[in-house]
Amino acid sequence: MSDETPQQGLDRGLTNYGDTEFARFLRRSFAQSMGYTKRSLAKPVIGIANAGSDFNNCHRHFPELIAAVKRGVLAAGGLPMEFPSISLGEPFLYPTSMMFRNLMSMDVEEMIRAQPMDAVVLVGGCDKTVPAQLMGALSAGCPAIQLVGGPMMTGRYQGERLGACTDCRRHWGRYRAGEIGAREIGAIEGNLATTAGSCAVMGTASTMACVVEALGMMLPHTAAIPAVHADRLRAAEATGAQAVWLAQQGLRPEAIVTAQSIDNALRVLLAISGSTNAVIHLTAIAGRLGLPVEAERLNRLSEETPVLVDLKPTGTHYMEDLYAAGGVQAILRELADLLHRDCMTVAGKTVGELLDEQRDAWVDHQVIRPRREPLKPEGGLLALSGSLAPNGALIKRAAADESLFEHTGRAVVFDDLQDMAERLDAEDLDVRPDDVLVLRNAGPLAAAMPEAGYIPIPAKLARQGVRDMVRISDARMSGTAYGTVVLHVSPEAALGGPLALVRSGDRIRLSVARRTIDLLVDEAELARRRAAWTPPQAPARRGYQWLYQQHVMQAENGCDFDFLRAQARPDDAGTDRQGDRP
Ligand code: FES
Repeated sequence: MSDETPQQGLDRGLTNYGDTEFARFLRRSFAQSMGYTKRSLAKPVIGIANAGSDFNNCHRHFPELIAAVKRGVLAAGGLPMEFPSISLGEPFLYPTSMMFRNLMSMDVEEMIRAQPMDAVVLVGGCDKTVPAQLMGALSAGCPAIQLVGGPMMTGRYQGERLGACTDCRRHWGRYRAGEIGAREIGAIEGNLATTAGSCAVMGTASTMACVVEALGMMLPHTAAIPAVHADRLRAAEATGAQAVWLAQQGLRPEAIVTAQSIDNALRVLLAISGSTNAVIHLTAIAGRLGLPVEAERLNRLSEETPVLVDLKPTGTHYMEDLYAAGGVQAILRELADLLHRDCMTVAGKTVGELLDEQRDAWVDHQVIRPRREPLKPEGGLLALSGSLAPNGALIKRAAADESLFEHTGRAVVFDDLQDMAERLDAEDLDVRPDDVLVLRNAGPLAAAMPEAGYIPIPAKLARQGVRDMVRISDARMSGTAYGTVVLHVSPEAALGGPLALVRSGDRIRLSVARRTIDLLVDEAELARRRAAWTPPQAPARRGYQWLYQQHVMQAENGCDFDFLRAQARPDDAGTDRQGDRP
């Protein structure tokens, strides 16, 4: 075989020894040492990126799931080759899983590119794992298909249905307010997360699963299947088989992820009133192909797209109910006239063809509302801008208190996470229910953007029954949280953005109607404060944290690393990514 011949299977990307035939001979010899026959080694190689780990409760069923993927690959005539990647178990990572999303994406990208595979099955689930896998696979340019672990089933506590993690926050709020004691919160702790799978509500993991199905990178009907349902294993088997088809067709992700399919994904994000984090992740995913996700576009789609799905944290039901109600395909059917029907999917069919196949499919309108009777007439998320956030901010209006949509209040400023932890519950904190809580130095650069934007209601106000206040930060918020919370303020305070200049007592104005967030301090005073401002912390000196701080971008660029994004796509036909795989 000459070096110009496109290489397939195990012959892809031969190790550099200066002798191609020797490299092939050695690789085949060592592959046979693992017990594979030459017949097996001649098949299309399907990589299976396994994000399982003992530090990731959401992925504890991955061994069984991956066995099903392998079954599907083998049945379709491929050779499954599982490989490990970094796993990001949301509650187990310090300082926050967000810091490691890009690292995981680099791991996935480089291992797809370096190892000989014709297609890859990405097996993830917990919050950051799915975006990391897709970012990596898109940059690697290999035919790819996403499989998620699926959501947890709900648990029960004293007759009440519980699901992580909206109910975690609700009961923790009751505990902080003194409504329940240590014994009861301890008992609830053991009943919030009782099965394998990702969080049971429309948090970030579930949102990303739904968004990726809408994007076309996951088999239809598979996003919402509970982790422990037999359909999850059937979906895994079907995904393995479909990966072989993708390898045979050479259908690469850039034929699927386009400006139009991103619109479809945003429509679903808005209709499910999904996690604010999904905007960051979708921006980063699209950015790997040079495709923008602009605030104006998000707002335009938000004006046209109703909230249809009644799930916690903004509604009533859980992910297992969404699956039983018809899942993402039922949502797409409700949105059909708003979608780009020609978008290709990993199923080998367009969005329109998939919708036509299910014209008479059943849907539970208790969970997925009909278009004519939406939960809210407009989408769940809105981009904001203004003098406090010149490069943008985000609010989940579907999770906010409408009485606070037009609100001007006095700022109560916390300088960083430590300051907030020390003073928030102090009895002498000068805070009133109509104040605006501000947390800064919690952005991508300062603190790897933890999910701290859901600033708890100060204990003394919580005890008075205050349940919501306007809260503003450069941090993120868990997809399972709710409240009138303005997030992702950019530029962040650590870069000297206006958030760094706010002082307690300043007036801040939020207007959801005008999509604005403004600091009502005159420019001369701000200039004086800016001149006196100094960056809050010394930069890291080595290792991944150094790399992270040198290259992380702000929320409007998906918090990706600057060197990982593609250059802008001149048209929708191709990319100029660096270094395609061999
Ligand atoms: Fe994994 Fe919530 S902890 S999805």
